[in-house]
Amino acid sequence: METLRVGVIGLGRMGQRHCRVLSNLRRAELAGVCDVSTCLGERTASQYGVPYFAQVADLLRAVDAVSLVTPTDTHLALATHCLEQGVHVLVEKPLAETAARAEQLAQVAEASGRQVQVGHIERFNPAYIELKYVLERATVLAVNVRRLSAYAASNSDVDVILDLMIHDFDLVLDLLGRTPESIAAMGLSATGQAVDHAVVQLSYKGGPLVSLTASRVTEQKVRSIEVTCVDAYVECDLLNKTIEVHRCTIGEYLNHNHKDVKYRQESIVERLQVPAQEPLFLELQSFVDSIIDDKPVTVSAADGLRAVQVAEAACQLTSQHLVDFGLSRDRHGAMPVQALAAAQ
Ligand SMILES: NC(=O)c1ccc[n+]([C@@H]2O[C@H](COP(=O)([O-])OP(=O)(O)OC[C@H]3O[C@@H](n4cnc5c(N)ncnc54)[C@H](O)[C@@H]3O)[C@@H](O)[C@H]2O)c1
Repeated sequence: METLRVGVIGLGRMGQRHCRVLSNLRRAELAGVCDVSTCLGERTASQYGVPYFAQVADLLRAVDAVSLVTPTDTHLALATHCLEQGVHVLVEKPLAETAARAEQLAQVAEASGRQVQVGHIERFNPAYIELKYVLERATVLAVNVRRLSAYAASNSDVDVILDLMIHDFDLVLDLLGRTPESIAAMGLSATGQAVDHAVVQLSYKGGPLVSLTASRVTEQKVRSIEVTCVDAYVECDLLNKTIEVHRCTIGEYLNHNHKDVKYRQESIVERLQVPAQEPLFLELQSFVDSIIDDKPVTVSAADGLRAVQVAEAACQLTSQHLVDFGLSRDRHGAMPVQALAAAQ
């Protein structure tokens, strides 16, 4: 059986997870790592017993494919370099930091003849995969997506739309198979640095109604997709990997003698079995299988571009309708209680 040699470029928070999963995949081996930080690179290389390359060009001579897990503003240059050397690329999301640069990268990907997959990991969330089956024959009326997190000091300079909500733009575009006709968006900045909480509505001609909320100032972690269909209400919890389908509400009058009339309603809740699988494992296995079996990747550069285009439009709208609380934070990133009270 063919074994694909895969390298990881960028060994930060997400790059470490790629190394762990790639060292355990079928049909692939972790063949080398690269980072501008020599200390981090050597430490990671020795942990996995693979070579460390200080230069991307040297790593590219030793691998067939890479996971590109560097900061977003490096994706265009580094992915282009990899593709020019004939190396397949899984580039982390978002594809690029602007729609113009994402379009450039999508064009390079198209012309390269190599596989390019974008790291929209939620496509491989087993709960989302199950949700797609459930909705296959459903008439969808409305979709409500929430991605809420407590404040983390990291990424606070990046808009919550490009950081978090972009996952959900990709899911909605995939679920509905269409791009929206128009977008409405509002946001607030709690820190004064970037949008921390955003509410976006996507309008589709003839429906469905789509609303999305993303936040990194909500003291509860939530990842949910709620879908209202003609004959069912579906709740998908991407975090706990559960799906509940509520359907068949039957209304019935129990007594027809005009005295003591009672009304009864029954509804059935189906709780679906969702396989306990790690999304990153499924994502990277799918990338490797696409290369070896020469079949299309699940999340293409064109998909990554569409998500960035919608995100950019939403970012522009939120900047026009931005509420700025400008709250200061202590050094642990917690929002002071008095500032919170003042904000209410
Ligand atoms: N799919 C997801 O759920 C998810 C989650 C987190 C981050 N991400 C994405 O992954 C990417 C990386 O995020 P992170 O949180 O791991 O960042 P990070 O800052 O923790 O790590 C980035 C690493 O890249 C290295 N690096 C920077 N420039 C480099 C270069 N030119 N060559 C080699 N190494 C270089 C840095 O030294 C650092 O170690 C971003 O695009 C981010 O949006 C995706």
